[in-house]
Amino acid sequence: MIDYSRLMYRVEPMTSPDLDSVMEIEHEAFSAPWSTRAYEYELHYNEMAHYYVARPQNGTGEPIAAPAATPSSWWQRLLRRDRELIPPPVAASPGIVGYGGFWLMVDEGHISTIAAHRAWRRRGIGELLLAAMIDRAAEIGARIVTLEVRVSNLNAQALYRKYGFEVAGKRIRYYSDNSEDALIMSTASITTAEYQRRLQELRTPLFARLSR
Ligand SMILES: CC(C)(COP(=O)(O)OP(=O)(O)OC[C@H]1O[C@@H](n2cnc3c(N)ncnc32)[C@H](O)[C@@H]1OP(=O)(O)O)[C@@H](O)C(=O)NCCC(=O)NCCS
Repeated sequence: MIDYSRLMYRVEPMTSPDLDSVMEIEHEAFSAPWSTRAYEYELHYNEMAHYYVARPQNGTGEPIAAPAATPSSWWQRLLRRDRELIPPPVAASPGIVGYGGFWLMVDEGHISTIAAHRAWRRRGIGELLLAAMIDRAAEIGARIVTLEVRVSNLNAQALYRKYGFEVAGKRIRYYSDNSEDALIMSTASITTAEYQRRLQELRTPLFARLSR
């Protein structure tokens, strides 16, 4: 059993103090960035929304001591859902290296965003966030996970394919900034033993890579 508390990055629920850092990444990562207000709406008014940030342990890449109370499942420890385990927010959350969010709509998890800071890409952060969101979505009732991705965004598509997403359709001229088409990519059922086995097979090398 992997010790999730010793990963190089923590994944925690996004909060308002995180938004300055989130917006920095947002503007660099997306040609049509969301506004701070849009994120505030997601965090405070959208009951379907679940948003997370990834940050290096202790803000320096150093692991922190395991929490005194041990949550019952791996994703609880990973996401630090239990409020008492969340460290007090710091002013501008400078240590954020990535973030992601999804909406739970009945039995469908819809990934609304995912990004890693440019300087921190190809280190497993996007994958960690995606795996964490898929796990969280399954835990709260999602049967499948779906998303839209630009047809030109081959890096993100590779990440999604790695986690079993397949092209399920296309939205023509979906993106308003350049009229680019979106691919709709969806998983098969994420609650089956087969998919859970696949997740575990992916998680093992990912967590080995991110463990210290
Ligand atoms: C897509 C994104 C989140 C990936 O984050 P990341 O932390 O760099 O990715 P990871 O290191 O976790 O890579 C995980 C997998 O993604 C795929 N991948 C990510 N970057 C890739 C690249 N530059 N080339 C090819 N594959 C890539 C690979 O399958 C990789 O698995 P591997 O390491 O076994 O090859 C990041 O590139 C990003 O923030 N892009 C800008 C925002 C964006 O496009 N978001 C998606 C919107 S739909």
